[in-house]
Amino acid sequence: MIDLHCHILFGVDDGPQRLEDSLALARALVADRVTRVVATPHILEPPLSVAAIAEGITRLEEEFAARNIALRLIPGGENHYTIPVEEMRTHSINGGRYLLLEFPHSNFPTSARDIVFQLRTAGLIPIIAHPERNADLLRDPDLLQPLIEQGALGQLTAASLAGDFGSPARQCARYMLKKGLAHFVATDAHGADWRPPRMQPGLKEAAKLLGKEAARKLMIENPELVIENRDWPYV
Ligand SMILES: [Fe+2]
Repeated sequence: MIDLHCHILFGVDDGPQRLEDSLALARALVADRVTRVVATPHILEPPLSVAAIAEGITRLEEEFAARNIALRLIPGGENHYTIPVEEMRTHSINGGRYLLLEFPHSNFPTSARDIVFQLRTAGLIPIIAHPERNADLLRDPDLLQPLIEQGALGQLTAASLAGDFGSPARQCARYMLKKGLAHFVATDAHGADWRPPRMQPGLKEAAKLLGKEAARKLMIENPELVIENRDWPYV
């Protein structure tokens, strides 16, 4: 499986702080049957540089090779919605047109539609990170609909489907899946112990709701299309 959202690099954000922590997370991801991970550290102001992310990836991949950890890393970032569009472009997934976009957890900003419009006009495709954990969207998940109609995509957290973020987030995630408001399920993992990867329980939950084939799409085919920068099959 491909994890499109993961804080695996150490010492760059609120994810792992030491190499050992990143290695523990990497092993947890492998145990969770993940083979490729997009490294998506938080991109805030002032933004972490693309070079720093590339260095972090090279360093970790060397450590993986030395320890036979079968995990490939792909560059990306979790772009805070206040970051300028051109800065977001440099922090897209694998240098392509898709990027991870983060709104605040507390509220859904009134500028959300404008930001999606700006990104789409710039030829970029925002993937909205964990909408099921946003307070306003928990109350009214349909607020996401207009953004999806503008061409944005949605990424749920596997742990939300597993119930780790509580019943409301789980119900919201299930609703978004059923309504076609979510296109990916990823870990948003921050460590092997705190906020660990939960792809397998997430996959099981998604399969119960949508069937096995559709569930696999959320974790395999759709993320693959993104990291290969292929056209999104809008219907
Ligand atoms: Fe994240």
